[in-house]
Amino acid sequence: MNHKLDLEEIQGLILSGYGERPVARYALFEIVDVARARAWLKALLPKLQFSNYRKTGRGAPPYLNKLCLNIAFSYDGLTKLGLPQVTLSGFSPPFQEGLADPNRARRLGDDGESAPERWTWGAPGQPLHGVLAVFAGEEDADPEEWRLIGECLDEHFCPDNGVRTLSVLDTMPADRKLRKEHFGFRDGIANPRLSGIARPGSDDVVESGEFILGYKNGYGHYPLSPEVPAGGAADALPVSLERAERRDFGKNGSYLVFRQLQQHVQKFWQYVHAAKAGVPDAPPGPLGSEWLAAKFVGRWPNGTPLTRYPGEPGPEKHDEDNRFLFGQHGDSFGARCPIGSHIRRTNPRDTALPIPHDPELSGTPEDHKVRETRLKLSNLHRLLRRGRSYGEPVDPSYDPERMRTSEDQSERGLHFLCFNANLNRQFEFVQSNWSQNPTFAGLSSDPDPLLSTKRQFPFDASDFTIQGCPVRRVHDVPRVVEVRGGAYFFMPSRAGIKYLSEL
Ligand code: HEM
Repeated sequence: MNHKLDLEEIQGLILSGYGERPVARYALFEIVDVARARAWLKALLPKLQFSNYRKTGRGAPPYLNKLCLNIAFSYDGLTKLGLPQVTLSGFSPPFQEGLADPNRARRLGDDGESAPERWTWGAPGQPLHGVLAVFAGEEDADPEEWRLIGECLDEHFCPDNGVRTLSVLDTMPADRKLRKEHFGFRDGIANPRLSGIARPGSDDVVESGEFILGYKNGYGHYPLSPEVPAGGAADALPVSLERAERRDFGKNGSYLVFRQLQQHVQKFWQYVHAAKAGVPDAPPGPLGSEWLAAKFVGRWPNGTPLTRYPGEPGPEKHDEDNRFLFGQHGDSFGARCPIGSHIRRTNPRDTALPIPHDPELSGTPEDHKVRETRLKLSNLHRLLRRGRSYGEPVDPSYDPERMRTSEDQSERGLHFLCFNANLNRQFEFVQSNWSQNPTFAGLSSDPDPLLSTKRQFPFDASDFTIQGCPVRRVHDVPRVVEVRGGAYFFMPSRAGIKYLSEL
């Protein structure tokens, strides 16, 4: 078990999606004057939201701020601020190379309409030094909250501060009851709990070092962390675990993956509406579309998991919606929640990998030890998701028929944000080896039906298989999610930001 987390040091967004703050904006910025930008960072530091509010109950300080601000930097941003080369080369290689790197883009499926050259931000050659995320609001979003955020951004991004906004990305105020993404499925359900703050007896607990630098990860190691030579301002940073003459710049920080994913909602519902006709046991009428769409996701639109409720949506019990394993509920082979569905391939839990139906691997589903080992393996590839939707819903009631027939073509999607301590083993592995991979878990031409159909890498594929007896298959699943922009950022600790401001 990990030791406790330094909550005063860890920026708030890492440990909370700020569900209590329904309004959010992300300001992407460029540093134009380094000296002024450092002074700005110094002044910004006391206004940032850190995680210490989580230590206490709601009735006692420190409270969650009215405006929650968090900041993260790109590799170019940290270079511009003057981090020494020895520190810069201590960041993980994907962060150094950037999300728009051509080889990376190929592996992540960012081709065609999603190619980095077409991105509206984060495209190759465009300056991008950081992101300031601002969250506000109490119960419901009202215009006053947007005004507050607008004023806050104007105050920070003025010429005196040496930083200018490149673009400001809005989100759709989170409806705290529905919590739906644009296809109409409840989102924000499954997220791991960190061992350093989990209450005794919690489930789905993952080592803190899977997400935060400076703590042990699932292998019992400390994640690689950028260091700076001791002396001067660096001495306020924690001492490096391995070299006493170095200070740990990365400790209590995390890598942030930010991808703006446009969703083609009508196309999604038009496809499932037409394709269900080819699936013999799909329920008749509109229910059939919902059934097939749920197979794609692995949950019903109300969020209840297919593995527990295979025939129809279950009652919404938010505490229980994430409490399940596949084998534990007799679903080792995908008869309830298809092996290729979005949630099963982004977190296979106790699925036997690499091939669930291999008799040597599948063992007996009752065997707790086998399930625990598989779970441990899956947990080496977890993500801490913090995204929010943007754009107006096609239909505020998320009715599949209305979404299918609507002519509203305005842009909408998901600002996908997630934290991890190892970009290679976590985000990139999940996106490339699991979501993007048509041969995931013994499938043959089935990429993730939400994210990854019809990509060139590793080969163009667009089938989806519903396991069971008989096996059913739909073909030619269209691309319904496209990348519009993105970047890798690093979200430093309080001490890290102070160091940057004093460089
Ligand atoms: C527009 C794009 C996306 C949509 C519409 C979408 C939708 C969903 C939905 C409806 C769920 C189930 C509810 C929940 O557990 O919160 C989910 C879960 C999840 N998604 Fe996505 N998602 C998208 C992009 C991504 C991306 C890019 C990744 C990572 C590469 C990802 C990884 C995950 C993970 C890890 C889970 C939780 C699985 C579990 O632990 O059960 N998603 N997503």
